[in-house]
Parts: sequence; C-alpha cells; structure tokens
Amino acid sequence: MDREEILIWFIEPEAIQEPARLSRFLQWLSPEERDQYGRFRFDKHRHTYLVSHALLRGALSLIAQVEPAQFYFNKNAYGKPFLAGPLQHQNLYFNLSHTEGLAALAISTHTELGVDVENKHRQDMTQELAEHFFAPEECRVVANIGDNERTEKMLEFWTLKESYIKAVGAGLSIPLDSFAFKLATDTEPACLLRLDAPNSDRTAWRFWQGQPTENHLMALAFKARPGEPIKISAQRASWLARA
Ligand SMILES: CC(C)(COP(=O)(O)OP(=O)(O)OC[C@H]1O[C@@H](n2cnc3c(N)ncnc32)[C@H](O)[C@@H]1OP(=O)(O)O)[C@@H](O)C(=O)NCCC(=O)NCCS
Repeated sequence: MDREEILIWFIEPEAIQEPARLSRFLQWLSPEERDQYGRFRFDKHRHTYLVSHALLRGALSLIAQVEPAQFYFNKNAYGKPFLAGPLQHQNLYFNLSHTEGLAALAISTHTELGVDVENKHRQDMTQELAEHFFAPEECRVVANIGDNERTEKMLEFWTLKESYIKAVGAGLSIPLDSFAFKLATDTEPACLLRLDAPNSDRTAWRFWQGQPTENHLMALAFKARPGEPIKISAQRASWLARA
C-alpha cells in the first residue's frame, strides 16, 4: 500500500451468508470481539458486527500478509480501536463504520482517519434534529433547503461531522457545535468552515465523500499537508465473500 493512499473497502453484510464462511470469520475474532458478538440482541446486528470485523481483519491480512486472527487491537480512552500488533504493523491506521445494509472500512499507512456511512432512507432528518445536532451555520443551511433535498443534504452534514469526530477519536467529548462544515460544491470538496479547538488548524483537515451504493452515503476525514496528493480508492470488498 502506498504512503499517499487511503483504501476504503465496503460490503453489504447480508451478501455473506454461507455458514462455513461465517464460522471461519468467528474464529478470526479475539475473545473480546467474540464477547461483543454474543451480546447483540438482534441477529441482524450480530451478523453486521461479524462481517464488519471480518472485513477489518481480512483487509489488514491482505495488506500485511499476516493471518486475520493474528491482529490484536487496543482502544483509546474514548473507545477508538487501533492496531496494537503484530508490532511491525502498528503503522496501519483504520476506522470502521456500519449502518443499515452496509459496513465500511478505511485504511491508511500515514494518518489517523475517520469514516462514516449512513443509509439514505433514514426518516429522522428534520429541522428539529439539525437544531439538536448541528452547528448554527449548518442549521441555517438546512433551513433553506427544499423538502426534496433535505434528507440527503442533512446526511451529508451528518456523515461529515461523524467522520471528523471519528478521525479525532474523542467521541462526543467534542461538542457538535464546536465545528461547522461547508458542503461540497460542483468544484470544491466539503471543508471545515469553523473549528473551535485549541491548537487546531481547520485547513489541516481534508474530507472525501462517496456514494458506495444507491442507498448509502459515506464521508472520510483525514489530515494532510497543503497540496499533498492523497489517492483515495473506495471499492466493494468482493474478496470477503470468497475468504
Ligand atoms: C463510535 C462513535 C464515535 C460513532 O458511532 P456510530 O456512528 O454509531 O457508529 P459507526 O458505525 O460509524 O462506527 C462504529 C465503529 O467506530 C469505531 N469506534 C468506536 N469508538 C470510536 C471513537 N471514539 N472514535 C472513532 N471510532 C470509534 C469502532 O470500530 C466501531 O465499530 P465496532 O464497535 O464494531 O468496533 C460514537 O461513539 C459516537 O459518539 N457517535 C456520535 C453520535 C452522534 O450524536 N452523532 C451526531 C452527528 S451530527
């Protein structure tokens, strides 16, 4: 994997159903992951968790040429997982996201990152929700959007905000109104319009958005130096259905 590259793999968990494959995935999990797997109340959530973590371990295995079960992870104080071993691969950064119908994983060799995917058919994207979760600048944009476009534009804000929070890795200790986005235009990607955080430079952050399936939106946040060319590729992880 190149230094200036970010790989995104995504998969529809429901596409993987073969019992032998699922039990192989289960064997890849650590005892902690297996505990978490067993705690889900609904089969659907348990299945998404299994496929997401198989996606993570399978992708790391392809990159590092190490068996999927041999990776081990730790978490920061806010629960963000990071690769703890094998030691020679600690320079691989990743972030995982899952939502109704999709799991996505972003991997880089040089920068912390955050990824978020959301289903476009969420029914709760209302002005009230914007007032609760978004910054004032973002709420003003939402208030001026027509009904037809509101859900998709709000989901753009939502995924961007989540991707930033997840890249920083400090969860909701970051107030959601302490940073505001400007949505992408035909010529410019989305960017941070305002960032109230000590010693932080909003222009150090870059954002990338994609539509992995007709039902999902995705946003990726990472840091890059001005002008640094970063190649981002997002692909369906078809290999996982054969792993
Ligand atoms: C994890 C968190 C940062 C995102 O949760 P989410 O959107 O429900 O979940 P996603 O599917 O995108 O991501 C979950 C994955 O992120 C990773 N993760 C967990 N904590 C994380 C953290 N603090 N930072 C980054 N990634 C984290 C994990 O791999 C997790 O998957 P796993 O449990 O299967 O290992 C959540 O703790 C949170 O605080 N969300 C904010 C919710 C909110 O109010 N958003 C408003 C947006 S406008």
